[in-house]
Amino acid sequence: MCGIVGYVGPKQAYSYLIEGLFRLEYRGYDSAGIAIQDGEQIGIRKKTGRVTELAELCRQEPLKGSIGIGHTRWATHGAPSDTNSHPHVGGNGEVVLAHNGVIENYSILRDRLRELGYVFRTSTDTEVVAHLVAHQLDESIRLGASPTDAKTCVQAVESAIKQIKGTYGLAVLFRDVPDLLVATRLGSPLVVGIGKGEHYLASDASPLVGNTEEVVYLKDHETAVITADSFVLHHQDGSEPVVSIHALAQTSQDTDLGEYEHYMLKEIFEQPQTIENAMRGRLDEDEATAKFGGLNMDAQSLRRIDRIVLTACGTSWHAGLVGEYLIEEFARIPVEVEYASELRYRNPPMSDRTMIFAITQSGETADTLAALRECKRKGHETLAICNTVGSTIAREANGGIYLHAGPEIGVASTKAFTSQVTVLTLLALFLGRMRHLSYPAGQRIIGHLREMPDKIRQTLKCFDAVKEVARKYYTAENFLYLGRLYNFPVALEGALKLKEISYIHAEGYPAAEMKHGPIALVDEHTPSVFIAPRCQIYPKVMSNLEEVKARGGPVIAIACEGDDKIAELADDVIFVPDVDEYLQPLVASIPLQLLAYQIAILRGCNVDRPRNLAKSVTVE
Ligand code: F6R
Repeated sequence: MCGIVGYVGPKQAYSYLIEGLFRLEYRGYDSAGIAIQDGEQIGIRKKTGRVTELAELCRQEPLKGSIGIGHTRWATHGAPSDTNSHPHVGGNGEVVLAHNGVIENYSILRDRLRELGYVFRTSTDTEVVAHLVAHQLDESIRLGASPTDAKTCVQAVESAIKQIKGTYGLAVLFRDVPDLLVATRLGSPLVVGIGKGEHYLASDASPLVGNTEEVVYLKDHETAVITADSFVLHHQDGSEPVVSIHALAQTSQDTDLGEYEHYMLKEIFEQPQTIENAMRGRLDEDEATAKFGGLNMDAQSLRRIDRIVLTACGTSWHAGLVGEYLIEEFARIPVEVEYASELRYRNPPMSDRTMIFAITQSGETADTLAALRECKRKGHETLAICNTVGSTIAREANGGIYLHAGPEIGVASTKAFTSQVTVLTLLALFLGRMRHLSYPAGQRIIGHLREMPDKIRQTLKCFDAVKEVARKYYTAENFLYLGRLYNFPVALEGALKLKEISYIHAEGYPAAEMKHGPIALVDEHTPSVFIAPRCQIYPKVMSNLEEVKARGGPVIAIACEGDDKIAELADDVIFVPDVDEYLQPLVASIPLQLLAYQIAILRGCNVDRPRNLAKSVTVE
């Protein structure tokens, strides 16, 4: 939620800042703004709406200078407006800052600052921080500190953040120290790019691609003091942590649209490759198992585990549900899938033999991070299944498995979901082979997994068929998504994809639960999408389908190639390749991603930037 960029060096700051904001726009797109220091004063431009509108404003009213910050906003406190856009000014303009996060005690702080004479011009929580830094600066100056000394400014930031409750990633400029950029974080990510005689700042690594190959991920409670030539870290406890520099793994191709019109479509079509990447180097044919480099647990500790808790939010939670079915079936270990937003405040009994897996694409989701920390505090093994290398969750977990899916930029998660399911299948195989799963069964699973990239390629050929179905139903205002066993989480995920990008109300349900209530929704205007590839209870799914047909509801079926029977019953069928039941979520989710995409396009929605959403939910 919200993206921050910063630059200090010999070049004009504007081009990096604006390009960086375009790349970070997926984190929030209610408004955008930049502030650039020209040596005497800090000029600010901000605008409600997308980054293009800010770029247009800056074309008409350019800003010059070689140090600056930028922000793209997902509104939390205060409606999207030009005034509420960041950067915000503190005091009489001596401080300008951009913020990602939520200041929980802002109203107490605001009252206190008002009493001291500070005037609030916005309804944001962030303005409190700007005034607080200005106030701390003013206090030090009154006690004799020099306003042009960088140390005074850094101390002002450090004193201010001690008074804040909540989360923040902050980028701060000072009018009277024109070569200084201060960045600090707690709960919201920040990464510094190291260049030659220049430094970059961003909320994630994507703006840095093409500008630098060396990055430093800030940790919570760290403050970075940045000039063109120097970069120093301070910890809130007074220490100076060692700067650990990482190589930037992304390339510009990862973030280019290429031949595709939208990131979501590009990412859907990347899935044969991303599923292959999730398996690369992890299949051990000789031992008929999977292997992982980063679990950081020995075989004996893994064998002791008698319960697994998977925790996540949204789409990642749906992947967790598939994981529950897989692990229980292959490894016979009881699994629970917990919403991270609930788990962080619950206190379920968990023994020291419980293993926790946080599942997250971004590695920055606030609730997932909080749940992970809560479990870690209680002494559990906490691992992560994560896509973003170097993200907070990836760094804080005791170990984990990366997805290697490359950056996912479309706000609706697609390739991350299938990669998570692939990794969970490998995990189930791995844990199963340590317990009850036989050698031939392990080999069979490996054989099936190896076929998956091709099966996904074949599945993607349903593109035109899906387009036809979308044309027929895109005006519907309600959809039902129904599936059983492994395809129940797929139904939930299909419904989520549709509602988030097309704004159509959609519900996912286990198909047999329909008759306990939701069947009342069925009428001739409400299509039901049945995820019905052949499975052990196929005849039962067919009965559920007949129940909907009998009540006049249109049925769209996702079925195995060659299933003539379903073609006679359903109004429309989208065929997918026949795969073993436990792999069906991988193939069956693809037509549902495409269906949501096509319907959203036909309804004129912005598929990559749906309203009210942001890619990384870094606030609670
Ligand atoms: C839906 C979607 C969200 C995320 C959720 C968790 O398409 O993308 O529901 O899955 O916000 O995000 P991560 O996986 O980054 O923790």
